[in-house]
Amino acid sequence: MTEKEIKISFHEYKSLDELEPLDKELAHAAIEAMSGSYAPYSHFNVGAAVRLSNGVIVKGANQENAAFPSGLCAERTAMFAAGASYPDKAMESLALAGGVMGRLAKSPATPCGACRQVMAQYQAKHGHPMSVIMIGDGIIWKFDKVDDILPLIFDSI
Ligand code: THU
Repeated sequence: MTEKEIKISFHEYKSLDELEPLDKELAHAAIEAMSGSYAPYSHFNVGAAVRLSNGVIVKGANQENAAFPSGLCAERTAMFAAGASYPDKAMESLALAGGVMGRLAKSPATPCGACRQVMAQYQAKHGHPMSVIMIGDGIIWKFDKVDDILPLIFDSI
């Protein structure tokens, strides 16, 4: 038996102003996108924004439904909209922000497993790393590629 280790590294910022200009713009878009959240059940508003290789930013927000599994997270709302409208453009970066009553939470919003899997597949489809920016109030995390938040990605079929 051999003990193995998986190591990930990421960048932490204290303010949106510390981000590179393109990341800062995307982060602001994700925060703005929170206003499109429809969350009558959880009251947790999530906004996401995807930057494509042509520079276009596509926004999404979580959409809930009384038939619970029918709702969708902000990240997938944004990625599916981007994939449907710009099928040939790589998704270079995705930012997300979340909080209650439209107010940004203190800790960074982190994507659910299903959203990570969808990110992984678009990253593989386009053969381009997708960075993921998770925004909290006064703390921001940036991961350079989806592999860093989904080790041992399933891509076998
Ligand atoms: N949610 C997202 O939009 N993204 C995530 O990655 C995690 C959770 C939404 C789903 C649901 O509408 C609400 O947050 C509470 O789980």
